[in-house]
Amino acid sequence: MAILPILHYPDARLHTRAKPVAEVDERIRQLVADMAETMYAAPGIGLAATQVDVHERVVVIDVSEDANDLLVLINPEILWRSEERVVYEEGCLSVPDVYDKVERASQVRVKALDINGQEREIEADGLLAICIQHEIDHLDGKVFVEYLSPLKQSRLKTRLRKQERLAKAVA
Ligand code: NI
Repeated sequence: MAILPILHYPDARLHTRAKPVAEVDERIRQLVADMAETMYAAPGIGLAATQVDVHERVVVIDVSEDANDLLVLINPEILWRSEERVVYEEGCLSVPDVYDKVERASQVRVKALDINGQEREIEADGLLAICIQHEIDHLDGKVFVEYLSPLKQSRLKTRLRKQERLAKAVA
């Protein structure tokens, strides 16, 4: 297992649309293991392969309190979203220290392959529903801050680029 480096917004690679996984084989299982280790170490509650610069449709999520209930979604597809919406203050491992309100469907039904390549359907609400939508957005090349106003986004980019330059200067 290995902790993988996480891409940080506004890295252009975060806007890559991920390809479907052709076969859930040993390579994908290794990727899932590494992604889970990376997510737990961060710590975070979700990670998409896009964030570790692998552009295949793989997501790991764990919203449990004790971080012991790993959910692996391979080639996830949202089959249904509730009309009911919910606003939640989201964060992202690719946008450190930034939290802001995003509105999403409050419930979703999702189809995905599990780690054994078996298709399963999941109904989710609450934080899990939010997290699933956030991670699938990553696979489509979308970062949550893109839901914010253009002004907020441009301020954020300026701030993050400045931080990056400072970090490089002291490194
Ligand atoms: Ni994220």
